[in-house]
Amino acid sequence: MTEELQLDSAALRERIAAELTGARERTALLTDCVEEADLVRQHSPLMSPLVWDLAHVANQEELWLLREVGGREPMYPEIDPLYDAFEHPRCERPTLPLLPPEQARAYGREVRGRVLDLLDRARFSGSRLLGDGFAFGMVAQHEAQHDETMLITHQIRSGAAVLSAPAPGPAPADASRLPAEVLVPGGPFTMGTSTEPWALDNERPAHTVDVATFFIDTTPVTCGAYAQFIADGGYGDPRWWTGAGWEHRQRAGLVAPMFWSRDGRQWVRTAFGTTEPVRPDEPVMHVCWYEADAYARWAGRRLPTEAEWEKAARFDPATGLSRRYPWGNAEPQAHLANLGQEFLRPAPAGAYPAGAAPCGARQLIGDVWEWTSSDFLPYPGFAAWPYREYSEVFFGPEYKVLRGGSFAVSPVACRGTFRNWDYPIRRQIFSGFRTAASAGPEHA
Ligand SMILES: [Fe+2]
Repeated sequence: MTEELQLDSAALRERIAAELTGARERTALLTDCVEEADLVRQHSPLMSPLVWDLAHVANQEELWLLREVGGREPMYPEIDPLYDAFEHPRCERPTLPLLPPEQARAYGREVRGRVLDLLDRARFSGSRLLGDGFAFGMVAQHEAQHDETMLITHQIRSGAAVLSAPAPGPAPADASRLPAEVLVPGGPFTMGTSTEPWALDNERPAHTVDVATFFIDTTPVTCGAYAQFIADGGYGDPRWWTGAGWEHRQRAGLVAPMFWSRDGRQWVRTAFGTTEPVRPDEPVMHVCWYEADAYARWAGRRLPTEAEWEKAARFDPATGLSRRYPWGNAEPQAHLANLGQEFLRPAPAGAYPAGAAPCGARQLIGDVWEWTSSDFLPYPGFAAWPYREYSEVFFGPEYKVLRGGSFAVSPVACRGTFRNWDYPIRRQIFSGFRTAASAGPEHA
């Protein structure tokens, strides 16, 4: 092995250790801040008890790193079925004989200790799981994703605030001068990736997609704009809703984003136990796909397709290439995007000018997940890896794709190609959207 490759291995080892440690620190923060009774209780049938997430991340880490990569025997085979997400839906999990909090924490520490030993000796070659440290990257992303899931549980949980009050992110100096929309030129671009080392199977392979010229909002739709839709009777007018959307709106009694309520003449929202007036300049959040779609139609626009969203976020007309992130190929940093649960809320619309895409759109990465009009489908040439249940079993029209990541997503689990998916009725997630419009022939 050349010296350069050895240095690369050392750097990769260091990066993996840092990602694993960072995710675990977040897990600890989100589970140490509540009483034991709060950890074992189910706060919503949509969510697992926090103590399930705690042991599930350790169990997946054991499965993929100690057993698959390290060839070890299962540590406690009897607990495997309890933490298999496919064996027990979330609503069933509180009835299982789960490990109590102290045992779950001890299990996590035991697995992590062995994983760090394994990492010390690991060579990042010889198998597809080990190449580029993929299995370690997958496990770090998995725990980071559960850190977001656990933050959603905190958002749903009632009772006094236990996390620090959501601090407003950096306001942009030029918000009032920003154009409402930007033009993305038509033509082919590279969607997905075949080179991003820790990209998951559904992001692969890279392929060419031809997208017609379109406009996309410079920023996510704000609470102020969304409040106008409400004030204009948007929730009471079936013209703006799809048939399924209207039916759901009526059945679920939707009148405003989740966690919004009326306080006299103003809207207030509750986040992590703190209630405050809705900020008009903040991206709207906790809306389902049906609400996003209805708003877009009311505004005379539409949701972007997934391909349009990715082209806006990644395509660089100067080089004809697709970037890893809107701002380029460098990893996310604090001045580029609102990620990693730093602020516990989206930053005001127009923030992070340094993180803008070549087309001029801002906040494509971080702040809020953005609903697209697209169903969750495989890319041409898709191959399930390393297991079918990661993505393949979810492909189909029941799920809509969300892009870009929220303030709650760790940088390790967020990039220009990353795809999230959920049911069109879901809104406990940190979901917002931006709208798009096809360009007329004068722009073609
Ligand atoms: Fe999981």
